[in-house]
Amino acid sequence: MTSAAGSGGGLAPRLAARIRREGSIGFAPFMEAALYDPEAGFFAGGGGAGRAGADFVTSPEVGSLFGAVVARALDEHWAELERPDPFIVAEVGAGRGRLARDVLRADPRCAPALRYLLVERSLALREEQRRVLTLEPVEDVLGPVMTLEAGASPEPVPGLGPMFTALDELPGAPIDGVVLANELLDNLPFDIVERTRIGWDEVRVGASTGDELREILVPAEPDLVAALGRLPATVPTGTRLPVQRAAHDWVAAAAQRLRHGFLILIDYCASTDELVARDGGWLRTYRDHRRGGPPLHAPGHQDITTDVARGPLLDAAQRAGLRLLEDRSQARWLVAHGLDDLVAEGAAVWRERAHIGDLTALAGRSRITEAGALTDPEGLGAHRVLVFRK
Ligand SMILES: C[S@@+](CC[C@H](N)C(=O)[O-])C[C@H]1O[C@@H](n2cnc3c(N)ncnc32)[C@H](O)[C@@H]1O
Repeated sequence: MTSAAGSGGGLAPRLAARIRREGSIGFAPFMEAALYDPEAGFFAGGGGAGRAGADFVTSPEVGSLFGAVVARALDEHWAELERPDPFIVAEVGAGRGRLARDVLRADPRCAPALRYLLVERSLALREEQRRVLTLEPVEDVLGPVMTLEAGASPEPVPGLGPMFTALDELPGAPIDGVVLANELLDNLPFDIVERTRIGWDEVRVGASTGDELREILVPAEPDLVAALGRLPATVPTGTRLPVQRAAHDWVAAAAQRLRHGFLILIDYCASTDELVARDGGWLRTYRDHRRGGPPLHAPGHQDITTDVARGPLLDAAQRAGLRLLEDRSQARWLVAHGLDDLVAEGAAVWRERAHIGDLTALAGRSRITEAGALTDPEGLGAHRVLVFRK
């Protein structure tokens, strides 16, 4: 990150005024405002297409194949849980609802039991979900309940699925099913520390005269350094690392809501050694379908994201009582859950109907190109899929 700053419409002056009033703020509160300020944050404006350029799409945006594989994985987890009805699937950071729609289109076996919660913080994106799915009131999706015998506890009514609803956060009720998050953790606010000759500094955000935002380095508090987890024996002076406490807190909260089931996290992950070697390249911004400017530049107008530090995340999950079941690349996870069969099906449809060239034929052919993008070892295929059991 450079110390360059810039204006971001109304948000930069507001942040500068707050900093002048209250003093410097950590990078996490800066990022919280830049991405999630209810009026001017990047996602408040319906952002999230910020990565939808040729090089930086999320997996659901590639096409419907990703959702078709997720549908198969959900079926497997449903069977492992002995087919509960209702079967709750909470997708957190659901964006525009593309993945949820593709799961529905794939017609999973769990559909009659499926109650799908699209948990999305951005009101604008929750509104967009209505364009791709019929959303029901949350109380209908989490209820209704019936009491079979006098004095017995109420039981949920089975067989009403598939039902979908939108929420701004995970519900308080216990979840029996799956909590799923694709590219959520990398977007949760993180702090930044920098290695010095004698310890660690925190990279904070200050304001100069005018509304310019700029970096300020102060000695880091011990709890910030502790959240880095285990470090390599030598970390060169000047190395910067993300401290992802909000991601760890989120995992703890998700684990607490999950009564029986699975937590599936899909994200860019890296070991601390890799983060050190990336020399700050773990922090990326996106704007207008391409890489954006320095992170303090134009808050609210660009996405800010990081590689997720794998070690501290696994530690947080373990502390939260989650057991790691799977830890593999997205490419391998997709193959393990039926990608090759779905591509072969698509190729067969294309062979049969290429001469007609209708939408069915094109969708068949599209599976072949989508599979290439989703398993690309230099791109989406390198994401980690972490599956935990509780
Ligand atoms: C990079 S986007 C990913 C969207 C989608 N999962 C995809 O793969 O295309 C991250 C999304 O997470 C949402 N988000 C961030 N923090 C959240 C939270 N605590 N709860 C719910 N959604 C959140 C953002 O608003 C944004 O839509």
